[in-house]
Amino acid sequence: MLEVRDLHVYYGGIHALHGISLRVPDGQIVALLGANGAGKSTTLRTIAGIVKPSEGDVLLDGESLIGLRSFEVVRRGIAMVPEGRRVFTNLTVLENLRLGAYARRDSNQVIQRDLQEIFNLFPRLEERKKQSAGTLSGGEQQMLALGRALMSKPRILMIDEPSLGLAPVLAQDVFEKLKELNQAGQTILLIEQNARAAMSIANYAYILETGNIVLEGPAAELAQQDEVRKSYLGVH
Ligand SMILES: Nc1ncnc2c1ncn2[C@@H]1O[C@H](COP(=O)(O)OP(=O)(O)OP(=O)(O)O)[C@@H](O)[C@H]1O
Ligand SMILES: [Mg+2]
Repeated sequence: MLEVRDLHVYYGGIHALHGISLRVPDGQIVALLGANGAGKSTTLRTIAGIVKPSEGDVLLDGESLIGLRSFEVVRRGIAMVPEGRRVFTNLTVLENLRLGAYARRDSNQVIQRDLQEIFNLFPRLEERKKQSAGTLSGGEQQMLALGRALMSKPRILMIDEPSLGLAPVLAQDVFEKLKELNQAGQTILLIEQNARAAMSIANYAYILETGNIVLEGPAAELAQQDEVRKSYLGVH
């Protein structure tokens, strides 16, 4: 299990995280929801070892990840799909996917087999494997970013706003894929502004407001609360 304890993060004078704590148990989808600037990406970047907290801890099975470099965090089994996808636009689809496996020590044969699994999950990527990633549509790039993260064989997949900029139908596809992956055992920490879609696939959800967790609970229960319905689900 991944556990974040009392995390504080500053960017210069800006206190972005005010002591947040959360847990991601194995096999679950945990959603982290909240408005623009709430601190969602900062939380993921801190777990990934990109941002250093001033206080608090990030633990994987009770062992601290603080101080590890980001590639070492990947090697421990935590992969991140950053906000805005960030595929390497000048590289081909295949090259992007292979890069996802860079921190692994497995044989080429094993990596080849995993590539085939990604292509089974995302047939569009196989059709376009020799195409440069920059020429893919937004939805295809999101699939590629997801596929690249999966190529690191993560124990925990962290994904930052997968539905951003996607048409509703494509966003729905991405959520379906995440659900499928989870049903096959993948643990996921999902960040979303689309609270409705996220809560429909998550086991548990946390709601972040200006660097504080203000609400948490089983996703199905949270989605029933008046406060959540009004502020996050647009139900009046
Ligand atoms: N590199 C940075 N330097 C200074 N301030 C930053 C930096 N990155 C984030 N912040 C600030 O920290 C706060 C949290 O930002 P963060 O990106 O974590 O929010 P978010 O919840 O992911 O928002 P969004 O939904 O818009 O992506 C914001 O007030 C933001 O302006
Ligand atoms: Mg963000």
